[in-house]
Amino acid sequence: MKAIRTHEPTAGIGGLVYEDVPDAKAGLCEVLIKVVACGITHTELDWPIWTCRAGHRREAIIPGNEVSGVVTALGYGTAGFAVGDEVFGLTDQLRDGAAAEYVAVEARNLAPKPRSLDHFQTAAVPRAGLTAWQALFDHGKLEKGQTVVVHGAGGAVGSVAVQLARWAGAEVIGTGREHSRALATELGAERYIALDNGGLDEIAGQADLVVDTVGGEVLTASSALLRPGGTLITIKAAAEFPTDRDDIATIVFVQLPNRDQLVEIARLIDDGHVRPQVGAVYPLAEAAQAFTVKAAGGVPGRMILRP
Ligand SMILES: NC(=O)c1ccc[n+]([C@@H]2O[C@H](COP(=O)([O-])OP(=O)(O)OC[C@H]3O[C@@H](n4cnc5c(N)ncnc54)[C@H](OP(=O)(O)O)[C@@H]3O)[C@@H](O)[C@H]2O)c1
Repeated sequence: MKAIRTHEPTAGIGGLVYEDVPDAKAGLCEVLIKVVACGITHTELDWPIWTCRAGHRREAIIPGNEVSGVVTALGYGTAGFAVGDEVFGLTDQLRDGAAAEYVAVEARNLAPKPRSLDHFQTAAVPRAGLTAWQALFDHGKLEKGQTVVVHGAGGAVGSVAVQLARWAGAEVIGTGREHSRALATELGAERYIALDNGGLDEIAGQADLVVDTVGGEVLTASSALLRPGGTLITIKAAAEFPTDRDDIATIVFVQLPNRDQLVEIARLIDDGHVRPQVGAVYPLAEAAQAFTVKAAGGVPGRMILRP
């Protein structure tokens, strides 16, 4: 089958090649999916993905952990899906991803595709949806009536976080670059602060929860936005980050696959509460271009590959 691969940990986007690779095969409790659309995260090649769970160094990596497609085969003992089912999900980040014609995925990491979206829109959902859900609800314990600040509100994760927080009855303050103001506001942010002009001071001490998808100076400045007892969550730090406050909680996390949450997010999509953002769709062979364009900034939402 054709796939995108990288063979060198330090090669970055320049190391991506379009080539023939061995056919994917469904193993124990897995399904084989014919990939219709694959979502990429432009930073994913920088993550610690070169050592598999058994501790072996991976020789090559097929990127793209977000998949939407059609089940073409079931592995030994796989229940809950049938050949022909339209599914979506987040693949295990330490296995080959979905930037390929086919991908084998653990059935537990998949859910039925939302009825109201096509595959290209659906492939924008798994990582953004699960990360936003887990930030707001699993880690952030967001409650109705609370105020949440979402940094990077026009991005793939941030735009879903804005919508989920609104659905949960929270007041949402979005931040990001000026070009994302209209989108974040349309998706449900009551207020928007363009970080190009500074401006975080005006919301000091107003948030119960901060969800940071930007990192750096924005993360450093975020402790001051919280009320006493509030929570600062970032998906942009590798470990603990410094804060001068001992009356707030700080959390760094990486999203996990979760079928139940995918099912719930799909329901919210079909009920009209959440609309995933697709930045652009590229042919699989042009994956490197998709990574490059997204990394340059200014493209809202997720880049999608089409095998
Ligand atoms: N830990 C986890 O589980 C996890 C999960 C998913 C993603 N991530 C990471 O989280 C980050 C966000 O992911 P994503 O897919 O949502 O990316 P994205 O679509 O690029 O979203 C980031 C948003 O923040 C904006 N932004 C970036 N730097 C900014 C700055 N200095 N000031 C103001 N706005 C800024 C971007 O605008 P521009 O496009 O104009 O730059 C974009 O709107 C990525 O770095 C990704 O690696 C982590």
